[in-house]
Amino acid sequence: MDAALTELIGRLDAAVAEPTSETITSRVKADLEQILGGGRLHLPARFRAPRSEGYARRLLYQDPANRYTAVVMTWGPGQGTPVHDHGGLWCVEGVIEGAMQVTQYDVRADGDAFAVVPTGEPLAAGVGSAGRLIPPTDYHVLGNAQPDAISLTLHVYGGDLNGCRIFSPRSDGRFTASVRSLCYHE
Ligand SMILES: [Fe+2]
Repeated sequence: MDAALTELIGRLDAAVAEPTSETITSRVKADLEQILGGGRLHLPARFRAPRSEGYARRLLYQDPANRYTAVVMTWGPGQGTPVHDHGGLWCVEGVIEGAMQVTQYDVRADGDAFAVVPTGEPLAAGVGSAGRLIPPTDYHVLGNAQPDAISLTLHVYGGDLNGCRIFSPRSDGRFTASVRSLCYHE
């Protein structure tokens, strides 16, 4: 196994022993910033292959005790997510290569639908930057900020994330929620 991946797993094993989502994600964020910022994580070629249908999601490591999973996402030019949550799990997302645009949202029930409002301007996230998300304030949109190259991101979740809610705009300006099942690509 790649030395940086071995180091990453050791650090994540230590971080998830922290007592709260707050302290776990603080540690994981610092770990990702150091390892990804140093450009030390080298991934096998299969993690770099984009998919024409949408961003690729590939499992990098699953903790045998299921306390966390580490997933690599590969973003082609123009690819991004809708507004989404993280299935009730804490999560830390960092940029391995390229550049991403990240926008945080506030989501509230509004009658039979949802009000979805950005909480600030879109942020540019470069290599080594990482953000942590703790439900229920974990709504965001990610997109590849590179117009003509792939970007790679690392996502550490507090368990096995197999589904999340996505929010789609309706004609009246409010949003509808639906469940998206998530799978791993080869
Ligand atoms: Fe996310």
